[in-house]
Order: sequence, then C-alpha cells, then structure tokens
Amino acid sequence: MQHHRVKITDVTLRDGHQSLWATRMRTEDMLPVLEKIDQIGYHSLEVWGGATFDVCLRYLYEDPWERLRTIKKLVKNTPLQMLLRGQSLVGYSHYPDDVVEAFIYKAVENGIDIIRIFDALNDVRNMESAIKYTKAAGAHAQGTVCYTVSPVHTVEHYLQTAEMLAELGVDSIAIKDMAGLLTPYKAYDLVKSIKEKTRLPVQIHCHFIGGMAIGAYIKAIEAGVDVIDTASVPLAFGPSHVPVEMMVRALKNTKYATGLSLSALFEIADYFEKLRKERGFERGITRINDMRVFDHQVPGGMITNLVSQLEEQRALHKLPEVLKEIPRVREELGYPPLVTPTSQIVGTQAVLNVLTGKRYKIIPGEVRAYVKGLYGEPPGEINPAIARKILGDEEVITCRPADLLEPKMDKMREEIKDLARSEEDVISYAMFPQVARRFMQARERGELKKMAEQAMRDFQRAKEIKASKKSSEKKSILKGGKKMNLSELKELIKILNETDISEISLESDGTKISIKKGAPCTISATTEGEVNVTPDTSKAEDALKEKKEEKKPEIDMEGVEKVTAPMVGTFYRAPAPDAEPFVEIGQIVETGQTLCIIEAMKLMNEIEAEFSGEIVDILVENGQPVEYGQPLFLIRRK
Ligand code: CO
Repeated sequence: MQHHRVKITDVTLRDGHQSLWATRMRTEDMLPVLEKIDQIGYHSLEVWGGATFDVCLRYLYEDPWERLRTIKKLVKNTPLQMLLRGQSLVGYSHYPDDVVEAFIYKAVENGIDIIRIFDALNDVRNMESAIKYTKAAGAHAQGTVCYTVSPVHTVEHYLQTAEMLAELGVDSIAIKDMAGLLTPYKAYDLVKSIKEKTRLPVQIHCHFIGGMAIGAYIKAIEAGVDVIDTASVPLAFGPSHVPVEMMVRALKNTKYATGLSLSALFEIADYFEKLRKERGFERGITRINDMRVFDHQVPGGMITNLVSQLEEQRALHKLPEVLKEIPRVREELGYPPLVTPTSQIVGTQAVLNVLTGKRYKIIPGEVRAYVKGLYGEPPGEINPAIARKILGDEEVITCRPADLLEPKMDKMREEIKDLARSEEDVISYAMFPQVARRFMQARERGELKKMAEQAMRDFQRAKEIKASKKSSEKKSILKGGKKMNLSELKELIKILNETDISEISLESDGTKISIKKGAPCTISATTEGEVNVTPDTSKAEDALKEKKEEKKPEIDMEGVEKVTAPMVGTFYRAPAPDAEPFVEIGQIVETGQTLCIIEAMKLMNEIEAEFSGEIVDILVENGQPVEYGQPLFLIRRK
C-alpha cells in the first residue's frame, strides 16, 4: 500500500476559539497544554492573526506580540502559523505597504513560520505585498482562495486565482471555506484541478456548520490534498471545525493514516473541556438555520453579528427579512464572498435596507468605499443603477487600492512617542490607534490586570443577561439563592401601579430593594446579589422633552415636518468632536444634504435631508442616545 500521509494543522488556539468563544482564550489558558500539543506531530499550529490580535489588545489587555513570543518559547517542534487578511493584515481596512512590511517582518521575527494570506474578494493585488514580504522575511507564504457559491464563482475562477498566486511565488495554496459551503464532490474537483495546475501543496480549511466539512475533507484527501485543518473536540463542531479526533479515527488503517496518537489527543481534549466548563462557553452546535446556509449564504459567525445588531436596534423580529435581503444585496454588489470585511459590508447594508424600509436610503461609508473599488475588484459586476445611486459622478478606481495610501510608519512613531516601548507597539498603534493607545496607557499605569478583569466581568455579565433574556420568565434574576424572579417583580410593580401604595421595600439576605411609584426605573441584579435600581433614562428624557416642547410655543408649525431617527443609536451634530455642526437652526438645507450622524452598529451613518427647507428646530442634544422614530429636526418645507 503506497502511503500518502495526511498532515494536520491544529486551529484550536486561533480559529477554534474565534468561532466559538468570541476569541476570548487567554495566553494563560493556553500555557498548561502547549507542550503537549507540540508533542502531537501536527504539521503546524494556527495560533495567531485573524481576530486574536484585536481581541488581545481590546478586551484581554494582553500584548499580542508577547503572546506569540510566549507560545514560541514552549512550542519547540511544530511550526507556528497565522491568518493574515492580505493588505488589511489583522485589521479591517487596507494599510500602506510600509505597515504591511513592518508587521510581517516582526511577526516572523517573533516566531511565525507560516503565513496564510487571503483577500475577501480573491483580488490577488491585495495579497501581492504580503506575499513578497513574507518570502523576503524567510517564512512560508500560503496563498488563499476564498470559497463561496455564486454564478461568477466557477472552478475556473478559483483556478485563475490559484495560478496568479503561484506566479507571485507562494509556497502552497489554501482553500478557505469559511461558510461551510464546500460540498464533497466540489472539494474533490477543486483540489485535483488546483494541484494539477499549480503543482503546489494544497491545504483545506472548511468550517463545520452544517457538517459538510467531513465529507469535503475525505474527498479532498482522495484528490490528494496535503494538509487539513481541525480543532480539538471541545472547540469543534458548529461554526468551528471538524474535530481532529474524528479525522484521525476515520483515516486510521488506511493509506492516508495521520500517525497521530488518539489517546494523546483526548488528553488535550480533556484539558480544553475543563477550561470550557470553567469559562462557561457552549460547545459548537448546528442549528437548522445553519443547514440553510445554501439559501441565505450567511456564515454562522455573521448570523451571530446580525442578531446582536438587530438586538441593539430592538428589531430582532426582522431577522428573516434581513436573511432574505442579504443575497439580494450581495448580488447587487457583485457577489463578494462573505468574510471579514465584506460580510460586515453586505450585512450592515442589508440591515439598514430592512430597518429604514427603503433600500439604500442610508449607505455606510464602508459600502461607498467598496463600490468605489477601495477594497479591490468585486468578483462580479456591481449593479450599475445601484453603483450610480451610491457614487453619483464619482469614478471607480482601477489601480491596486493600497497604491493610493501614503506610507505612515514614521507618522505613527511620532504620534505615539514614548508610550510605545518597541517597534511592535508602533505597529499595533498603526493598525488600531485608539485601542492600542488605551492598552499602552493602561500598561503605563500598571493597570492591565485590573482592566482585563473588568472587561472579563462585563463580558460574563453580558452573556448572563443574554441567557436570562432567553428564559427571562423562568429564571431568577436575583442570584445567590434569592427567590424572587422577574415575573414576581413584575407582579409587584403591577400592584404598585393599580393601588394607592406609593412605595414597596423588600429585604432578603441583606439585599434591599425599594420601588417607588412615579419614577420609572430599571432593576438589575449583579452576580454578587447586589440590586441596582436606575431611573429609566429614555422615559425620563421623554418627560424632559415634553417639557422642552411646551416651552417653545412660538414656532409656527405650518409646513413644518419632522425628521425622525431611522435607527437606534447616538446622535452627533458634527462629523468630529471639534468640527462645525452640519446644520444650525435657521439654515436652509437642500435635498441630500447631511443633517447629522447616528452612530449605530459600529458605523457612522450620515442622515440626509429628504427635502429642502429651513431648519426650524433641532430636538436632540449632541452626543445623546436616540430611539427608532424619535424626532430629530423640524424642517419647514420650501
Ligand atoms: Co476559518
């Protein structure tokens, strides 16, 4: 029997927790098991890049560079691998070439051996610089084709992309199936033709989601794939990956046998399972909606994002509508594969189209930039009518987007000054200015640990609130053995409202609550059993607003129309804190003129005038939260 050993990359420490644990695994969680993982005989360990860099700085208050050095110290035998978003590195928009160069050299210097480079649009111009610098730094450059399903994504398209990558000198090709859309026989064809065409080693990365990945892997192996990606079982399944234990077992006693020890793999699984329970994370599960991915084309992780965007907008009931809108927007925008950042671009436009009830009424800056060509060339044609609506007379760029960017490392170095202790710090700052500065300031004050603990408590609390929302009627909101639950509290408040009693005080196990009539409030309980009663600000504001409106009877309301908030968010009168406001009272505005910004879903959405007229009143203060449908401006139609 001719042996064709299948090699395995373990993605537990990057994609595994990014897919299932909101990327919240800390370096200290990894340390006790690293040497064991190193002994397995994996082809490589994916431990860095993707969202891990951002999450380290933003939420874990860890230095991602320090994490890499620590891992490298303990992993002595197995090559370390990272995921790189082409010209966007580990961020969300393109960086100039000098930042790409600096980042890649430092990544390799600190311990990375293999860099998987992808571009959301499969536009190789966005991978060109990263490939060049990876090779120059002496690391293995893996070029990637992102797999998706659309009329323009033929086997020919992928082959062309792979050939162009081969011409750029990549050492291997990865097929990246982030949405679990790759069917087994398609996987066979793809692997076989890419291998024949490029003569390069091929690695395959399929997310589990609907379970197609196991079949895809087996057929890819029969077609000669060299490496497959898997995760340790507690961080496998659902939106994550195929468990390594399953693949090793499936291939045992065949000519593809991996040679990995199942008992050693289960020891590692035991460690992660214990950690999973301690941290309160769910195991990967597949919902029916995930199996419908072929209809709505939305990857699992993206559905999670949509749900939280819609929750923020108090419009979760519109999810089915949004899922219908996404394929439509995707088609109109030239069928981009849905992966960071195109998943956010398409998803947010679809959410806005549904929320406002009018398609492309609000267009986020990112969508405009995408249509302008600033993210690269879309795989298909952008609907010309939509392009015109979004761009007007503006021209689409045809060059490599990064050619338009000025070098910025020197400027960054000057800006961050002594807060940066190393070149690595300057690079972090160049990619994530606010987040990296906040991290370095906390480090100066010696407060990293404190900040990390606070962020962790906030995260746990948000998770608990979410869980209690799901079963709010049944679950006690007062922790620590207190008996009262939400429906009983509601009952109490009802009594208060329907009787002459004006105040109720409760005391149990040292916790005191008092509820007073006439003051709207929200009651919440902390994990320590502490109960907080806070005035319901939106209602209080309504009351204030009514008062304010009463005081202004002098406005002649003839021909005056309200401009209302199309979404829940924060109201800003100016494009930046120190900038001039967009409009003032008494000003005449034209149709299409920007009136204000509403920050929502991490985007700055410009609200435009739908008719021309005079601004009669501005009803919201700068920086205040606004509700859906809340009046913002009064304009007298011209
Ligand atoms: Co992935």
